[in-house]
Amino acid sequence: MADTKNSGLSPVFPKEDAARPEFWEKRFRPGFTPWDSGGIPLALESFLGREPRGARVLIPGCGSGYEVRAFVQAGFETLAIDFAPAAVERARRNLGLLAHVVRLADFFEFDFGRSFDLIYERTFLCALPRRLWPRYALRVSELLRSEGRLAGFFYFDDGERGPPFGLKVRELEALLSDRFERIADAEVGDSIPIFAGKERWQIWSPR
Ligand SMILES: C[S@@+](CC[C@H](N)C(=O)[O-])C[C@H]1O[C@@H](n2cnc3c(N)ncnc32)[C@H](O)[C@@H]1O
Repeated sequence: MADTKNSGLSPVFPKEDAARPEFWEKRFRPGFTPWDSGGIPLALESFLGREPRGARVLIPGCGSGYEVRAFVQAGFETLAIDFAPAAVERARRNLGLLAHVVRLADFFEFDFGRSFDLIYERTFLCALPRRLWPRYALRVSELLRSEGRLAGFFYFDDGERGPPFGLKVRELEALLSDRFERIADAEVGDSIPIFAGKERWQIWSPR
């Protein structure tokens, strides 16, 4: 609803908040998804090729869910979540017989009932307003087993505005290094143009 309290002449609309599902719903419904890679990043493919079968992975903020099939085919017990109904619908459509792997759930609220061996990150942290980043770090550490890992793609950029909200130099260390140590870090060569040169593949393990 428009907030007219401060305005003498015209209504002031509340700023959109990327912490709310409506923000993402408004983008998925009309198909405005510029972050969508349309496929599986190479670093993930090669990571999955080296992983043992049978581990349990969480994919938070899965969007269109392309990676879900890759994790299932690599033998992972896979759970993908998104809190925007339109994203869940899209992922389920893409996944066909694997649609049941995707659930409508809020990463911060859902009771997962057990821990994970792996949490996969791609354009989820950078989709969250920065005020939620400490909660993200805490939640990831709560949801991972002590030998678990946080693995995926992290977006670095100096700009203030978002989403995507970029990590500044050393900001990811500041956020994670109390609870995690970084065990892998590599350039990404196959980013889509909006992320080109700004993404790194990293793996973090609880201390
Ligand atoms: C930029 S999109 C990225 C989607 C997907 N990871 C990809 O790479 O295409 C961010 C996604 O995170 C979801 N999201 C944001 N906050 C969430 C939360 N608290 N719980 C679950 N999903 C959330 C949004 O609905 C959106 O689908």
